[in-house]
Amino acid sequence: MPPKVPAKQQSPNPVEEKKRALLISVYKGSDKLDICVEHLEELELLIETYGAVVVKKVPCSIRKYDAATFVTEGKLQELVDLSKELGVDLVVFDDEITPGQQRNLEKAFSLPVIDRTEVILEVFAARAQTKEAKAQIELAKVKYEAPRLKRLWTHLSRQAGSGGGGSGGGGYLKGEGEKQIEIDRRLLQQKIDLLKKDIEDVRAVRETQRNSRERSEIPIFAIIGYTNAGKSTLLNALTASDVFVEDKLFATLDTTTRKFKFSNHQEILLIDTVGFIRKLPHLLVAAFKSTLEEAMQADVLVHLIDVSHPMAEEQAETTFEVLKELNAEKKPVITVLNKIDQCEDPTKILRFRIKYPKTVEISALKKIGFEDLEEKMIHELKSFRKVVKLKIPQSNYAVVTEIMRVGHILSQHYEENDVFLEVDIPESAAGRLKKYLLD
Ligand code: GTP
Repeated sequence: MPPKVPAKQQSPNPVEEKKRALLISVYKGSDKLDICVEHLEELELLIETYGAVVVKKVPCSIRKYDAATFVTEGKLQELVDLSKELGVDLVVFDDEITPGQQRNLEKAFSLPVIDRTEVILEVFAARAQTKEAKAQIELAKVKYEAPRLKRLWTHLSRQAGSGGGGSGGGGYLKGEGEKQIEIDRRLLQQKIDLLKKDIEDVRAVRETQRNSRERSEIPIFAIIGYTNAGKSTLLNALTASDVFVEDKLFATLDTTTRKFKFSNHQEILLIDTVGFIRKLPHLLVAAFKSTLEEAMQADVLVHLIDVSHPMAEEQAETTFEVLKELNAEKKPVITVLNKIDQCEDPTKILRFRIKYPKTVEISALKKIGFEDLEEKMIHELKSFRKVVKLKIPQSNYAVVTEIMRVGHILSQHYEENDVFLEVDIPESAAGRLKKYLLD
C-alpha cells in the first residue's frame, strides 16, 4: 500500500525555503570515530525530516570541551572557516549545547546554531496530531526556549546600556531588553501553566478510557522500538490497517491502538508507539511520558529492532534505557528482529539471540515470520491466564456473562441448578471468582 502523507505531516520547513546545514558531531579518542559517523548519519535523517538539506557532516575530534563555546578556539575557527567556504546557513551540533554556548557559537559563526534537541523538538512539533501530543510538545518547546530568551533581546540591552547612565562598578543595569525578558518569562510561565492544565484535562479523559479498557481485560501488547524500526509497518501488516508509514523518523507520534485476533480467536489490543531515539531530549522524555505511559500499561512489550541497521545493537540498548526511565524494564518483552529481508550479517542475528531471550525474526514488510511471532505472543499470554474449573448457580447469570466476556469457555455441563465450567481466564478474573472455584 503506498504511504499516505497527510498535509499535517509535512516537514517543518517547506521545500522552497530549505536551509543548507552543516552537521557537526564531536568525539574523543580515535576508536570513537565510527560511532560518531553513525551518529551523524542519524542526525542527517533527522535534519531531512526537519526539512533542511545537509551540505556536509563533520566528525570533529576533540581533546576537551570548552565551557563557553563547546569546542575549543582552534577547532571552532576551523569550523567557522568551513561554514563560510560551504556557504551554509545553519549549523547543527549532534550534542546538547547549553544556551550560553549556543549564543557564543552563533556569534562566532554569524549563523543560527541549533542542537539535536532542538531538531527533535521541531520534528515532533510538526508531526504531532492529537491535542495531547501537540500540548506536550508545545510545553517541551516552551521549556526549551525559556533559558534561551536572552538571545532575542540582548540587542535591546546593548542599546539601553550604551545610552549612558550605566550602573558602573559591575552593578546591574536593567535595560529595555531585560524588562522585555522579564515580561516574556512571565508570559511563558502563564503559557506553561495553561499547557499543563490542558494536558491534565486530556489525561483525565485518557485515564477514564484506560480504566474501561482494563475492565474489559483484553490483553494489551505494545510495539516499542527505535524510530524507523518498522513498528507501524508491523501493526499494519498484522491488523490489515492503514497506519501512517514513512521512511522518516518519528512518523508515529501518537499511540495508535488496533484490535487483533490470533488464529485461535483470542483477541488482543496492539499499540503502536512513538519511536525511541538515542539521547531523547530530557524535556521530551518528560513530555512523552504520558503518551508512552499508555503503552507501559501493556501486558507485554514487543520490542522491534531493525536488525539490518549498522547500529542495531546500540539502538536496542537505547530502547532499554528509555524503558528504565519509564520504570518499565521489568515488563515481559518479546524481542523481534525486523527487516531480516535486508540483513546481510547472520552473525548479528545470532548475537541478538544470545543476548536477548525470546527472540523472533521477521520481516514486517514481506510478512515473513508472523506465525513464529504469533506463537511467542500466545505463549507469553499464558503466564497471565489460568485454566480453572468453576461451579456456578444457574441463577447467577451475571457471573457467567462476565466469564464469557473476559475468557474462553473450554467445556461446560449442567447438574441440577448449577453450571460446571472449565474456562481459560485472566489471572485477575480468577481471583474475583474464588468462591466458585472447584479444587
Ligand atoms: P517511527 O514512526 O519513526 O517510530 O517509525 P516506525 O518504527 O513506525 O517505522 P515504519 O513502520 O514507519 O517503517 C520505517 C521504514 O522501514 C519504512 O520505509 C518501511 O517500509 C521500512 N520497513 C519496515 N519493515 C521492514 C522490513 O521488514 N523490511 C524492509 N526492507 N523494510 C521495512
